Amino acid sequence: MYILNVFVFSFLTHVVSISSKNLLGDGVTNVLGFYTGLRKLCLCRCGITKNYANHSKSGRSFSNDIYTGYGMPWLATIHTGTTTIRGTLISDKHVITAANPLFRKSASEIVVTLGSQTCKEGSHALNTSVEAILIHPSYSGSVRNNDIALLRLRNPIKFSSFISPICMPLYDIGKLDQLAWTASKIKNKSDLCLTRVVTLPILSSRTCKGNTLFNSSVTLSDKGCLGPLGTKSILCENDIGGPVMTRWAPTSPFRLAGIITNTSCEEEASPQFTRTVDNMLWIHENIRDNCQCF
Ligand SMILES: *[C@@H]1O[C@H](CO)[C@@H](O)[C@H](O)[C@H]1NC(C)=O
Ligand SMILES: *[C@@H]1O[C@H](CO)[C@@H](O)[C@H](O)[C@H]1NC(C)=O
Ligand SMILES: *[C@@H]1O[C@H](CO)[C@@H](O)[C@H](O)[C@H]1NC(C)=O
Ligand SMILES: *[C@@H]1O[C@H](CO)[C@@H](O)[C@H](O)[C@H]1NC(C)=O
Ligand SMILES: *[C@@H]1O[C@H](CO)[C@@H](O)[C@H](O)[C@H]1NC(C)=O
Repeated sequence: MYILNVFVFSFLTHVVSISSKNLLGDGVTNVLGFYTGLRKLCLCRCGITKNYANHSKSGRSFSNDIYTGYGMPWLATIHTGTTTIRGTLISDKHVITAANPLFRKSASEIVVTLGSQTCKEGSHALNTSVEAILIHPSYSGSVRNNDIALLRLRNPIKFSSFISPICMPLYDIGKLDQLAWTASKIKNKSDLCLTRVVTLPILSSRTCKGNTLFNSSVTLSDKGCLGPLGTKSILCENDIGGPVMTRWAPTSPFRLAGIITNTSCEEEASPQFTRTVDNMLWIHENIRDNCQCF
């Protein structure tokens, strides 16, 4: 059992430390709106990993980390009929992902898998059907602005230590973080397809622009890029829709900072992600009647 006061206290601590560093920008205002709006209170925790070892985020190096188990219980696999992409559980009825692979798809084509351990899924995997695909109203396919979609699941998910949501962000990525985590599934030689967690550097806008091979008309108004530079991208096409995560300290919950919008591991180009804070009002409008955790 978790006590709400603990959340309120730790939330206030975050806000105070954000203001004291004078970092209140538009994104943070949206985030405050998110946390003060009406919503359903549920006594559950978000952003809690089951067995992800202590990872400090000191330094600027990145690490490649493959492990078994259910360490990122919000990671979803989305079968679109033609491709497989990733998504992230953010409420008991919503998985957030990129809009571009879902554009013009119908909800009946989509199957979401939660709680899978490997590609063969394991005993805790749950397939769930989708009631509606909600595409951000300002989504633009050619330049991937607001490349964000919510899948409203047909039935609410019962959280467990194998399936639970990530926390929403409290501040804009890039102002405090030099590193972010991504989670995906990758096949190793025995075809196990384990969850892979990688720590990657967040690039400045200028470095990002110079290192993105993707459509040159793409603007970075609501996007960021991940390194490292000088090598093929570590994230592949089926990592699109997956989470970019941050946390304050090794003991803090993980928060959803972004959603991978375009990447290709065939190319020496920086993966791009859509920043969650820039789309928070729309996300909030759509999920506020459902169970979110703290
Ligand atoms: C994680 O950190 C705690 C406290 O610093 C320590 O007691 C524990 O052994 C660490 N666990 C691992 C797997 O490193
Ligand atoms: C879930 O759906 C996928 C894709 O349709 C399928 O490959 C998988 O076997 C299903 N898993 C379960 C547990 O039903
Ligand atoms: C790149 O962007 C331009 C301008 O928005 C658009 O016309 C073009 O179709 C885009 N190309 C691709 C490959 O998406
Ligand atoms: C695949 O990953 C698992 C878990 O890390 C490991 O035990 C196994 O040896 C790996 N297999 C190969 C062929 O790399
Ligand atoms: C996405 O990446 C592919 C390379 O895999 C590229 O051809 C395409 O133009 C990119 N799309 C946008 C909108 O940048």
